[in-house]
Amino acid sequence: MTTSKNIPPHAMPLLGALAALAYTMASASTASADASAKLKAYGKHLSSECTTCHRIDGSDNGIPPIIGWPSEAFVAVLVSYRDGERTNQAMVSVAKSLDEQQMEALASYFGSIEPK
Ligand code: HEC
Repeated sequence: MTTSKNIPPHAMPLLGALAALAYTMASASTASADASAKLKAYGKHLSSECTTCHRIDGSDNGIPPIIGWPSEAFVAVLVSYRDGERTNQAMVSVAKSLDEQQMEALASYFGSIEPK
């Protein structure tokens, strides 16, 4: 144990606890990276319903582009269509067909695409 020669014996359990904590934190962040990758993949799967109208390259064909938005703003807009605050017919019916998790998945996917 060359690394422990300057560490008093009573400090060893503390080091063990710190190592365990670091390990727990590392695996927790791996789990959440995994969850966000899954969410994004789910959003990509759902996005075909949107890309019949919205262009994925960020250009405006008379329908506004929806890529590169912050997630919260994206979800808030969908909610505003769902709740009738925004009244565009096509978007109201699209938004009514989505649950919160699907909105977040779509936000995660479209938000990850950089406008050109
Ligand atoms: C039938 C065509 C159509 C489909 C399908 C469609 N949209 Fe839209 N979307 C529109 C139109 C048109 C607007 C602009 C409406 C308005 O002026 O409020 C819009 C607006 C939006 C906006 C707000 C854009 C802004 O700049 O304010 C978001 C976000 C959005 N759509 C997301 C989606 C998502 C996510 C899907 C798929 C689940 C989807 N749309 C599917 C036609 C569509």
